[in-house]
Amino acid sequence: MSEAATAIGAGATAAGLAPAISIRGVTQRFGAVGAAQGVLALDDISLDIAPGEFVCLLGPSGCGKSTLLNIIGGLFKPTSGEVTVAGKRVDGAPRPDEIAFVFQESTLFPWYTIIENFRIALKFQGVPKSERDDLAMDALKAVGMGGFARHYPTQLSVGMRQRVNMARGICVRTNILLMDEPFAALDEQSRMVLGEDLSTLLAKTGKTIVFVTHSLAEAVFLSDRIVVMTARPGRVKTIVNVNERHPRAPDFMLEPRFGEMRNELFALLRDEIRRAMALQRDADGGGA
Ligand SMILES: Nc1ncnc2c1ncn2[C@@H]1O[C@H](COP(=O)(O)OP(=O)(O)OP(=O)(O)O)[C@@H](O)[C@H]1O
Ligand SMILES: [Mg+2]
Repeated sequence: MSEAATAIGAGATAAGLAPAISIRGVTQRFGAVGAAQGVLALDDISLDIAPGEFVCLLGPSGCGKSTLLNIIGGLFKPTSGEVTVAGKRVDGAPRPDEIAFVFQESTLFPWYTIIENFRIALKFQGVPKSERDDLAMDALKAVGMGGFARHYPTQLSVGMRQRVNMARGICVRTNILLMDEPFAALDEQSRMVLGEDLSTLLAKTGKTIVFVTHSLAEAVFLSDRIVVMTARPGRVKTIVNVNERHPRAPDFMLEPRFGEMRNELFALLRDEIRRAMALQRDADGGGA
């Protein structure tokens, strides 16, 4: 089930595919070396992600998951190492034609209706005007939000906004979708239903996804590979493969191997979470 960290990306190369995303020796330090406030967030991460693969980043809070996602998305340049997307180096410059983001907080403009928010995103992507509304409505209907196209974001609940946010990320025509805890604001039942929808939608689109979550069940249900990271500085501890075709049915969660994988992940993470908590206590000066 697990593979050694040294074999990262073996899946992509074994299948004879050029990776959609290639991460090579990425290290990220915030602040100067040796500075009191300096933080080594990521330490020498290397990983290849195949086209159409769903990869989940799992690890304790502060281990650098969002930092890695932001580097892949070109939001900033790493201290050292490089990321290549579709054969082109990402050099701290966003590539909206190729890479879409779905963040934890909804990023809808509050002064535009839902459909207007979609139109802006699709316009930015260069989608012809005549196609924008159909694409938007298809995506909204796919997450059960077709009836809310003319509402303003503030007229929707947090969960509804997040469903819209996810639909927008999927409908833009990028090959790569980066999702940073997109379901974190939702209740457990909504997360599970939306997870099913996501698996179905993505099976159709064939997008390459990097997804950050703290939920072990979500990671197993959605991913082809789960990258388990260490406490800060974030390194790849191990990779767990989930061999199950997409789209995944809820029954998958009832299979014994689903529970076994979730338990395996928890065992892998337990020590890292304790280390992360100890780091936090040290940073707080030993705690009050
Ligand atoms: N812009 C920044 N300046 C300074 N330090 C930063 C910056 N961004 C992140 N860090 C630090 O880098 C480390 C990794 O942060 P990051 O947000 O990537 O963690 P994470 O794994 O996404 O955590 P969480 O699960 O809580 O979202 C943390 O110690 C954080 O304080
Ligand atoms: Mg984060």
